[in-house]
Amino acid sequence: ARAKLGRRNIVFVGLMGAGKSAIGRMVAQQLKVSFIDTDVEIERVSRMTIAELFATYGEEEFRALETRVIKRLLRGGPKVISTGGGAFINDNTRRHITRGGISLWLKADLEVLWERVNKRDHRPLLKTENPKATLAALMEKRYPIYAEADLTIESRDVRKEIIVTEVLAAI
Ligand code: S3P
Repeated sequence: ARAKLGRRNIVFVGLMGAGKSAIGRMVAQQLKVSFIDTDVEIERVSRMTIAELFATYGEEEFRALETRVIKRLLRGGPKVISTGGGAFINDNTRRHITRGGISLWLKADLEVLWERVNKRDHRPLLKTENPKATLAALMEKRYPIYAEADLTIESRDVRKEIIVTEVLAAI
């Protein structure tokens, strides 16, 4: 898989809780390329948390920063990059991702996503009265767009190693 990858990047897209960072990190280890999480990079350059960025500047500003950070990270592959759930939904960011790497949608169903995001509370988009319904609405809105990714892998409730093997076989 490493030889096939050449200098291309693998870019994980999909909703929060799908396992983009956990699976992405393991895939990068297997391929012996570097791994970067765009949310972590955004927090590093802004010296704010994602929640603080949303609260202080709003989602639009966050998306603009996200586009810039991702555009820069796509240079100089190969790398494995995991993106925040909204990155691939943004037209501008999606264009950069499509040009700069192999996009891979980690697709998961509502119960799997909910199980994983439920425990954490740092996701500003889920600070609503009914976060599970919000998540379901995001799925409905975003899945047709994630479906434009080059590859789709089902992130099921199985050992992560199994998903990693499937990703490596697909690229
Ligand atoms: C977002 C997902 C988050 C983060 C921000 C917005 C989204 O990333 O970028 O809270 O729009 O779905 P994760 O997918 O890593 O949770």
